[in-house]
Amino acid sequence: MRRVIFNQKGGVGKSTITCNLAAISAAEGKRTLVIDLDIQGNSTHYLLGHKVTDADATLARFFRDTLSLNLFGKNPSNPLSAIIHETPFANLYVIPSHPELEPLQSRLETRYKIYKLREAIDELSQFDRIYMDTPPVLNFYSRAALIAARHCLIPFDCDAFSREALYKLLEAITEIKLDHNPGLDIEGIIVNQYQSRANLPQRLVDELIAEGQPVLQTKISPSIKVRESHSESKPLIHFAPDHKLTEEYKALHQELQDKQPA
Ligand SMILES: Nc1ncnc2c1ncn2[C@@H]1O[C@H](COP(=O)(O)OP(=O)(O)O)[C@@H](O)[C@H]1O
Ligand SMILES: [Mg+2]
Repeated sequence: MRRVIFNQKGGVGKSTITCNLAAISAAEGKRTLVIDLDIQGNSTHYLLGHKVTDADATLARFFRDTLSLNLFGKNPSNPLSAIIHETPFANLYVIPSHPELEPLQSRLETRYKIYKLREAIDELSQFDRIYMDTPPVLNFYSRAALIAARHCLIPFDCDAFSREALYKLLEAITEIKLDHNPGLDIEGIIVNQYQSRANLPQRLVDELIAEGQPVLQTKISPSIKVRESHSESKPLIHFAPDHKLTEEYKALHQELQDKQPA
């Protein structure tokens, strides 16, 4: 199972949702990997408690290596294997991001390296589930993740401005699906920080559903616990196992599992 969490808007909950779903998956005993494709490294920090300064231990090394031709035979191990980090949580691993991804980007684009991530993941057999966190922009890295993924989850923060962006986003993902990744399943829109008692969010969600947009049944409430769990670098299932928000994340995880073909 490979899932990308994407919305080109920042602050909608991509990193939080990625890490919390991955942590639930790992706690179920599934070997789970998070690939952090955002140079901000929020998922890396959330899961490891720190960022990774040595670029050679991060995704930057993988992409840099795709630019250098190895004329002396292939390295027998998977190019991603060397940059996988254990987290403090059983079964949960992360490939960290690094600021060097930024200057690498234009070279990767001009040399058509967009499929390299998918190829490397195809050969990475030791994980049951892979979650990809993306930057808040449709750039080389978010495209590479959308091409490498089988499922795409879209966080949405219920504001009127986000709605216009949502249509553009769905179009862009559909285009990538048609051109590069026919197997990509747009599994749904997850409404984050949903205030069920406020009028505007409820109306927005109702309208999206009436339009036939794939809004998921589970909604994630706003809670101070999220920020606390970030600052403790502990996903909610470990930080606040009995909290309402943790239950919502578990429900989201289950809803997504149930949607997948057996
Ligand atoms: N359900 C929530 N309740 C309260 N705050 C949240 C919730 N989800 C995310 N946040 C906060 O919103 C901010 C953006 O979340 P983040 O996951 O980093 O979004 P993105 O990765 O899309 O930029 C963070 O400060 C995070 O703590
Ligand atoms: Mg983020």
